[in-house]
Amino acid sequence: MQPVPAPYPHGRPRRTRRTAALRALTQEVSLSAGDLIWPIFLREGTNLREPIASMPGVDRLSLDLVVEAAKMAQGLGIPAICLFPYTDPVLKTEDCREAWNPENLTNRAIRAIKAAVPDIAVMTDVALDPYNSLGHDGLVQGGVILNDESVAALVRMALVQAEAGADILGPSDMMDGRIGAIRAALEKAGHKDVAILSYSAKYASAFYGPFRDAVGASGALKGDKKTYQMNPANSDEALRMVARDLAEGADMVMIKPGMLYLDICRRVKDAFGAPTFAYQVSGEYAMIKGAALQGWIDGDKAMMESLLAFKRAGCDGILTYFAPQAARLLQGHKT
Ligand code: PBG
Repeated sequence: MQPVPAPYPHGRPRRTRRTAALRALTQEVSLSAGDLIWPIFLREGTNLREPIASMPGVDRLSLDLVVEAAKMAQGLGIPAICLFPYTDPVLKTEDCREAWNPENLTNRAIRAIKAAVPDIAVMTDVALDPYNSLGHDGLVQGGVILNDESVAALVRMALVQAEAGADILGPSDMMDGRIGAIRAALEKAGHKDVAILSYSAKYASAFYGPFRDAVGASGALKGDKKTYQMNPANSDEALRMVARDLAEGADMVMIKPGMLYLDICRRVKDAFGAPTFAYQVSGEYAMIKGAALQGWIDGDKAMMESLLAFKRAGCDGILTYFAPQAARLLQGHKT
């Protein structure tokens, strides 16, 4: 029940806003480095740091530098990183076989990170788009995205990631039945403790544009992803997707994008009380960063406000490209 405030002048809500101390005492939610998952882009090579034009401040890193980044993240108190590979176009095929190559870039990175920084949680993306010459998250036949055949491919991909040592698998493909199929395969293969953070409510969004540049999928993608990703107009459907994924064996769920979908975050948290995450996606990062670089907004303040808003909306954590910058600010260092 909502408390009824005393009427003015006995009630003066400004009393608790008067000083920083009173504001701190009455603050409802807070943000800490422990809430953050840092998505990182991988590339082949050594000692290479390649800027991504549409995501200023974010680079693709070669394996050796990814290991350094994981060490840095751990030092900043960030509990998890999430790996996304930039795939050489010659390795992209219509059958996406590079996705379940145990020696692909992602699987080599998982092993290197777990060897050097065992305590950081490594999350992966389970979707075919980085390996698909047609740019889609599933297998395509005659312009149609195949569901069950894609799920079988995703299961193979998930198993090699678990084998390589991933702590958290992130199926981001939005095929039907993939969580149950991956969970069953993990159980059968003895990977019973590998967690699944399902991209449960993933919308067909214009805000993924810079990410597709980062992983080199923009040029490849034919058409759009509307036959599998959700319609941005739908909210009840998100609850059905989360219910389904939890029932199929997801441990944690995600809403994506984040900032435009805080209403969904709140509904999901209230309805299920499950560990709930939002992905502040590449386009959301680019909006804040781009405006800050123009001097139009205060970048640090806008970043912190955007991340705190996810906590207020009920999220337990946030996938964000701002993770190291935010963690540094939370430690009291300058970014
Ligand atoms: C691919 C995937 C996408 C993102 C995460 N995994 C792009 C897409 O669905 O097209 C987007 C992340 C971002 O924009 O930051 N399955």
